[in-house]
Amino acid sequence: MGYRVVGADLSERMIALAKASALAGCVFYVADACSLPFADASFDVTTVMSALEFIACVETEVGEMARCTKAGGRILVGTINRFSTLTRKRLARGQEPYVSGRLLSPHELWALLAPIGTVRMLANSPRDAAAGGGNIVRRLEARSGMLSGPLLLAEVRKRA
Ligand SMILES: C[S@@+](CC[C@H](N)C(=O)[O-])C[C@H]1O[C@@H](n2cnc3c(N)ncnc32)[C@H](O)[C@@H]1O
Repeated sequence: MGYRVVGADLSERMIALAKASALAGCVFYVADACSLPFADASFDVTTVMSALEFIACVETEVGEMARCTKAGGRILVGTINRFSTLTRKRLARGQEPYVSGRLLSPHELWALLAPIGTVRMLANSPRDAAAGGGNIVRRLEARSGMLSGPLLLAEVRKRA
């Protein structure tokens, strides 16, 4: 499709799983998201999905994604919405992995991302977010402003 895809995870096992199911040409690194092994402005798009809430150094991680993204490029984040009704029920039940994560509210995620550039955000069900061909940006455009669902999705357009 003309993209060069690079993935990273701290876990060797997760990287092995990614390699086993990835398209040809994708490259993977065992790496700490808080110290990414990539030069400044390496990527047009960076993304972290279902991992921010389990990374100890969230602020540093977001800073690393911003550093590795080109000016005018996009950062996409998918993370559990701490304030959704479903998440609150799961937290009240002590359910994993929710209780072990550092779950963010829409406001907290917004505050983390706003210094990087222009933020758009929605919170919706994972199934709904995957509709429309899984195109997160299209879903953001269509549903921007909905912040009550269990999956927070944010796009940041990095300032020049
Ligand atoms: C719930 S899994 C999600 C994995 C993958 N993003 C996905 O959507 O299938 C969370 C991942 O975060 C990774 N992780 C936790 N801390 C990390 C860090 N400091 N650097 C890189 N990856 C980390 C874990 O190894 C784990 O694979």
